[in-house]
Amino acid sequence: MSNVLVIGAGGQIGTELVLALRKNHGEQNVVAADIKIECPPLLTGGPYVQMDVLNRDAVRNYIIYKGFDEVYLLAALLSATAEKNPDFAWKLNMEGLFTILDLAKEGHIKRIFWPSSIAVFGPTTPADQTPQTTVMEPTTVYGISKLAGERWCEYYHSKFGVDVRSIRYPGLISYKSLPGGGTTDYAVDIFYKAKAVKSFTSFLSEDTALPMMFMDDAIRATIELMNAPSESIKIRSAYNLGGISFTPKQLGEAITKVIPDFQISYAPDFRQEIADSWPNSIDDSEAKKDWNWKHQYDLEGLVNIMLANVDINLL
Ligand code: SER
Repeated sequence: MSNVLVIGAGGQIGTELVLALRKNHGEQNVVAADIKIECPPLLTGGPYVQMDVLNRDAVRNYIIYKGFDEVYLLAALLSATAEKNPDFAWKLNMEGLFTILDLAKEGHIKRIFWPSSIAVFGPTTPADQTPQTTVMEPTTVYGISKLAGERWCEYYHSKFGVDVRSIRYPGLISYKSLPGGGTTDYAVDIFYKAKAVKSFTSFLSEDTALPMMFMDDAIRATIELMNAPSESIKIRSAYNLGGISFTPKQLGEAITKVIPDFQISYAPDFRQEIADSWPNSIDDSEAKKDWNWKHQYDLEGLVNIMLANVDINLL
């Protein structure tokens, strides 16, 4: 059993990660931390602390006092929100990472998980089956912060032996907690609108293919990566992770098989340019080789589970 801290626990990934980690480590051994004063309702089964990751002294004091085997640092601004507030996005996405990397370097944390993203790639990257190692010229603030973060993770590992692990998540699709401020969020919103009003207007064009993944696969990947023996983790920047790839049109068609009168229309906005700069699909052979990664959910499975479970009252 490990002593675990999840920072940014109230977000889309954090909520489900805390629930999964509490199953594995015991409710009381996984502390959920978030900027929100009130503990999110789904996380009340175990300890909760209010934490501002930008308050370096407070974060340091808390972690040095408690000591953690694992820290998951999920507090960040996503791609679309970051474009609207570049200075703050850079500050939030980078400063929190340094605080946690330094604490691990000093011996107060044994293992760190920090998420990267397909946003590290850019328009000059090969878009189909994007390889692990390739051209990386991101054009978004979010992508630049994730690429810089990857380089720092690798640096802290090679210079100071910090055990930090990371995944380049594709767009994540879930029903327990809403995403906020991402370019891939349309693929979550669509299920709520399909169920509530049987129609949806996509902010990406019909043929915009992006790599996507159902949250259960993403959580399993995260836990498998963190449980793998350190010597099998050959990549200390971040692993490519493939799931499924689809366009808004293909997703709409899959929903129509369950809700025959569902209608989709398209009104691309500023997020189209972000999506156009990202890969269509991802080659994750390194993750398969190093820690036996395999995704489970295909498009049909994802559509069925989402339509069965989204709660339209969450909107
Ligand atoms: N899903 C994220 C976003 O759209 C990418 O990491 O910003």
